Amino acid sequence: MSRTELHGQVAIVTGGSRGIGLAISVALAEAGAAVAVLGRNGERAVEAAGTLPGEGHAGFACDVANPDAVKATLSAIEDDLGPVTILVNNAGITRDNILLRMKDEEFDEVIATNLKGAFNFTRAVTRGMMKRRTGSILNISSVVGLQGNAGQANYAASKAGLVGLTKSVAKELASRGVRCNAIAPGFIHTDMTEDLGESQVERLQQLIPMGSLGEPEDVAGVARFLVGPEARYITGQVLAVDGGMVM
Ligand code: NAI
Repeated sequence: MSRTELHGQVAIVTGGSRGIGLAISVALAEAGAAVAVLGRNGERAVEAAGTLPGEGHAGFACDVANPDAVKATLSAIEDDLGPVTILVNNAGITRDNILLRMKDEEFDEVIATNLKGAFNFTRAVTRGMMKRRTGSILNISSVVGLQGNAGQANYAASKAGLVGLTKSVAKELASRGVRCNAIAPGFIHTDMTEDLGESQVERLQQLIPMGSLGEPEDVAGVARFLVGPEARYITGQVLAVDGGMVM
C-alpha cells in the first residue's frame, strides 16, 4: 500500500535503529516522511536509515541524555533534511533492581535517558515548530508508567514523568499549532523484553486480556496515526497499546 500522508515532513526518531524505534522509523518513511534515525551508535543509525523505504533518510549518532549533543544533532539534521516537523522520543533503557538495592546511578541513568532525554529534544525542536506553527511530538511511555512495576521504580518514574511532560507540553504549545501525545506500550517483543524467562512470559500473558505480547509494528501504526494529519485534533493524550492490560 502506498501512503503519502507524511509527504514533505521531516521526522526525528530517537533510538530508531532497532526495536520499536526502527518499526516507527519504517512506518513514518512508508508514509512519505524523511526520517532522521538517531542512536547512540552512529554506524548502526546510518545502517538502519539505509534500510528505510523511500529516500531522504539519514542516520545520526546522538546520546539524548546530553543536551549539547542534542542541540548539535538537531542543527546537523536541519542542515541535512530541512526543518523538523515530527519528533518521536523513543530512546529508553532499563536498569531494574529492587528498591532497597537500587543504586543512585541506576536511578539517575534511567531518568537521564528516558525522561530528561525527551525533555532535551522537545525543548530543542520547540522554537522552530512554534515559529512555523506546526509540529507533532510523540513520547513513548509505558504501561509501567501508568501502573508501576515491582523492581522498576526508576523506569516507572521515568515513564510516568513522560506522561506529565506530554500533557504540559500539549497545554503549552496547543495554541501554537504543536501537538504532543504519548503511547504507553504494554509488553512488546524486542531486545528489551528478550531476557524475560518462559515463566515470566507465561505470567505476563495471563495479565494481557488479548493473551500475547505485542509486536513493534503494533506500536508503529499507532505512532504514524498520532503524528499524522488524521490526529490533527488530538493532543495531550496517552494511548495504551497493550492488548488490553490497562483499561
Ligand atoms: P530497545 O532496547 O530495543 O531499543 C531502545 C533504543 O534506544 C536502542 O536503539 C538504544 O540504542 C536507544 N537508546 C538507549 N539509550 C539511548 C541514549 N541515551 N541516546 C540515544 N539512544 C538511546 O527497546 P525497545 O523495546 O524498542 O523500546 C523502545 C521504547 O519503548 C523505550 O522507550 C522503551 O522504554 C519503550 N517501551 C518498550 C516496551 C517493550 O515491551 N519492549 C514496553 C513499553 C515501553
